[in-house]
Amino acid sequence: MCRRQSRHAAYNFDPMAALLLRVNGQSHRIDVPAGQTLLTTLRETLGLTGTKYGCGEGQCGACTVLIDGKPARSCRTDSAAAANKGITTIEGLAHGDQLHPVQAAFLKREAFQCGYCTPGMIMSAVALLQATPKPSDDEIVRQMNGNVCRCCTYPRVMAAIRDAAGATPAAAGAAGDEVQP
Ligand code: FES
Ligand code: FES
Repeated sequence: MCRRQSRHAAYNFDPMAALLLRVNGQSHRIDVPAGQTLLTTLRETLGLTGTKYGCGEGQCGACTVLIDGKPARSCRTDSAAAANKGITTIEGLAHGDQLHPVQAAFLKREAFQCGYCTPGMIMSAVALLQATPKPSDDEIVRQMNGNVCRCCTYPRVMAAIRDAAGATPAAAGAAGDEVQP
């Protein structure tokens, strides 16, 4: 046994895991290094770069995706923990050229500057409106509190979410195949 193999054996290290990931309605059978975050798998294995790497520590919300309809920090989610679940990324919200109502509201309100936080913001807002179609301002703030915007676009984000909530409730909460639980 070579030195590298014996080190793996000593730590019971399984270098790869075969996973079934269901992302935006598509199934992917992929080999993923054990312990690799969902964020890395989405961006580097599946090429879905809409989900952003910010802090890498679960603090900024840039990497937010939905897992079975619930917002999750993909930088702190092991890929294996997301296997066989319905994962939705920002790429899964629009239907062709038709933006999701939350995306459309962000665009209309120009609720971004550099745009780096925007995918995570939108995913959190979609989850909010799905669970609470007519949120109060307090509920919006509570939900969005974990999504940090270094460009300080918070007032416009609030306005966009209020607008989206004013769209038909079903439309504001509905999105790609995996959003609905
Ligand atoms: S990159 Fe995941 S919370 Fe900041
Ligand atoms: S728009 Fe730049 S970080 Fe939010």
